[in-house]
Amino acid sequence: MISIIAIDGPTASGKGTVAQLVAKVLGFHYLDSGALYRIVGLASLHQQIDLSHHDQLGQMTRRLKIHFDQQRVFLEENDVSEAIRTEEMGQRASAVGAIPQVRQALVELQKSFLALPGLVADGRDMGTVIFPQAQLKVFLTASAHIRAQRRYKQLIAKGISANIDILTQDLLDRDQRDTQRSTAPLIQSEDAYLLDTSDLSIDQAVQKILKWYALVVQQ
Ligand code: DC
Repeated sequence: MISIIAIDGPTASGKGTVAQLVAKVLGFHYLDSGALYRIVGLASLHQQIDLSHHDQLGQMTRRLKIHFDQQRVFLEENDVSEAIRTEEMGQRASAVGAIPQVRQALVELQKSFLALPGLVADGRDMGTVIFPQAQLKVFLTASAHIRAQRRYKQLIAKGISANIDILTQDLLDRDQRDTQRSTAPLIQSEDAYLLDTSDLSIDQAVQKILKWYALVVQQ
C-alpha cells in the first residue's frame, strides 16, 4: 500500500512549504495541486479562452502537457514556475478551479503522482475528492490576518510592492470562492486533523504532522 498524506487548506496558510518539508523528511513524492490550477489559469489567458466557456476550458486542460522537475514546473517546454506564482494567477486559478470540467480533466493527472514510497499532496480537495483513502488528512489553516501578513512579507522579500488591505481582501475573496463553489469545495472533512498555524513556526507545523503520521501508521 502506498502511503498518502493529504494536506488541504485555504490560500497562504503555509500548506505548500509545510507539505514540501514533510515530503522531504519522509522521502515521499510531493504534489502541488494548486500549481495545476494555476497553469490552467495561465494557459487559458495565453489561449484567450473566456472563463465562461467551460467545455472549451475542460478540453484545453486535457491537452496541456505539464511536468514537474525538481522544484520547477513546465508547461510544454516552458518553465512557468514564476509566471504562475503571481496574485493574478492565484485569483485566476481559483476561478478555473470552480469549473467542474476543469476539475474533472485534472483528476487522472493528480492520481498519477501516487508512487512508492508515498505521497504528500497539498490543495483544497486532496483528502475529500482526489485521495479519500489517505492515511492522514490535515486541514491546515491560519487566521486571515496572519495569512495576509505572511503573503505580504513573501512579496516584499521578492521585491514586489504590496498593500496589506488589498491582499487581505483578495485572500478573503479567494476563500469565499474556494469554499462556496459547488464542485469539490474547500472543507474540513470529519476525518481530517485541524492544524491552525497562526501561532506555530513552520518547523512546529511540520513536527506536528510527522507526529500524527507516526501515530496513524502505528494503528
Ligand atoms: O494552493 P494555491 O494557492 O496555489 O491554489 C490556487 C487556487 O487553485 C486556489 O485558490 C483554488 C484552486 N485550487 C483548487 O481549486 N483545488 C486544488 N486542489 C488546489 C487549488
